[in-house]
Amino acid sequence: MKKSFTLSFITLVVIILLVQCNNTKEDTPVVEKESYGGFEDNAAWGNHLVTIGGCHDCHTPKKMTPMGPVIDSSLLLAGHMPNSPVPDVNRKQMQEKGLVVSSDLTAWVGPWGVSFTANLTSDDTGIGTWSEEQLRLALREGKYKGLPGSRTLLPPMPWEMFSHFTDAEIKAIYVFLKSTKPINNIVPAPLPPEN
Ligand code: HEC
Repeated sequence: MKKSFTLSFITLVVIILLVQCNNTKEDTPVVEKESYGGFEDNAAWGNHLVTIGGCHDCHTPKKMTPMGPVIDSSLLLAGHMPNSPVPDVNRKQMQEKGLVVSSDLTAWVGPWGVSFTANLTSDDTGIGTWSEEQLRLALREGKYKGLPGSRTLLPPMPWEMFSHFTDAEIKAIYVFLKSTKPINNIVPAPLPPEN
């Protein structure tokens, strides 16, 4: 009887010790390895986010084909190019009636005037000189050039939706954009609405 009591007592102590050990393990902070959304690095993850975020739809010039516009892979994310004309429409009427867009989706005429999609390549005329904080301010708060106090980005840049990107996702997009082929292209300033 005494022996079996001693044995159960020892078993209990062992169990308590094991539980304690486990707890101590859980209390130790675990340094998480960056996961890059399952991709091999931030550039690959950022490329994926830019693709599914539809950025090319507006920021990459297109080539016209019988099936409609297709992305011009030699001008990825270069923004509105000088050879893509603004649709020749009655702008005042457009301001009242709706909007019209160039066939490559880089020049948008609407109640806000005319907006031109930005150069997002790593060139200095794109985001080459931007800090990560600037990209965060542009995507989170819709700030032009990502500068505090600058104007709000015009439609149809969907920054309200992009404000839901996490910090890690914005970092990945930043790393990817910085790794893109630089394309020198100064995009014109937007035109104000016509009176
Ligand atoms: C529906 C069209 C559209 C889509 C989609 C779009 N953009 Fe834009 N974006 C624009 C337009 C138009 C502007 C210029 C707005 C202005 O001049 O105020 C712009 C401006 C920007 C700017 C600010 C550039 C500057 O110089 O201040 C950044 C940064 C940007 N876009 C990033 C992105 C990213 C990243 C994506 C994808 C996740 C994206 N955009 C998707 C239309 C779009």
